[in-house]
Amino acid sequence: MKYFKSFLGLFGVLCLILLYSQGCDSHNKDDFFSKNKHHEMVTFNSEENVLQLVLVSNGKTILTGNLGVALPSVLKQPTKETCAPGGKDCWFEWGDFARLHVTAPETQDDNDNCVTVEWYSDYGRKLEDCFDLTEGVHWYGGAETKVQSWPIENVAREEAPYVTGDFLQPVQFGGVLETYWLTSSGAALHVDEATPLFTSWNTTHKDKFCIAAADRWPYEERKNVRLQYEVCIPKSGENFKDVHKRSLRKYYKLPTQIPDAKMLVY
Ligand SMILES: *[C@@H]1O[C@H](CO)[C@@H](O)[C@H](O)[C@H]1NC(C)=O
Repeated sequence: MKYFKSFLGLFGVLCLILLYSQGCDSHNKDDFFSKNKHHEMVTFNSEENVLQLVLVSNGKTILTGNLGVALPSVLKQPTKETCAPGGKDCWFEWGDFARLHVTAPETQDDNDNCVTVEWYSDYGRKLEDCFDLTEGVHWYGGAETKVQSWPIENVAREEAPYVTGDFLQPVQFGGVLETYWLTSSGAALHVDEATPLFTSWNTTHKDKFCIAAADRWPYEERKNVRLQYEVCIPKSGENFKDVHKRSLRKYYKLPTQIPDAKMLVY
């Protein structure tokens, strides 16, 4: 009984200390909120064991997806996470296996409202991110295909190197392609041209549009594999056409002269 009483006393004192420290420590509260803000963009979902990306603009969800889906399953959860104050510039690490850098503009109207995602790995031979093909959201852009579908999500495609080819052959694309896609929800996705890119949609990963970097044929082997891309989403008052118009100008230059007529001769 005596022990029980002193236990209660100790418990009371501990409670007071806890209450006091919580009331005084507003610094911790700020950290908590900024962490949560960043967590809206990239969070680890422990139920599904995957790092998730959620891009929101003007109160609407523009693009969601899973990051690092080709990481070995024991490595799905980052071992280290470092975010600059404000949570708009974050590094995720999986030991020395892979690193992920995600940056977002400070506000929706800064910097064209584009989020950059950069993966680096010395050991992983494939880095892959998959975005959700959401009901009612359409995907446009990409490459020339034999069965040209508009929007493109209507015809699923096996994983294939994203290079020009002979579209009469299985899985190959035609003679024109760009590493650029646009969704009707307002996401303009541009993959850096230096990425040894593979794409697939609604095949290996059901209801997903996947981009992967891997250094296998037809790409050369390289020391480290990098997957780099940018996703631009609407600023205040913009619709998906506005995002497309400014993104095209950002990634592609318009012709400045009339092409040589020889280019049009068969
Ligand atoms: C993906 O393919 C399945 C058939 O395999 C189809 O039922 C489904 O609607 C497709 N998903 C999308 C988003 O088009």
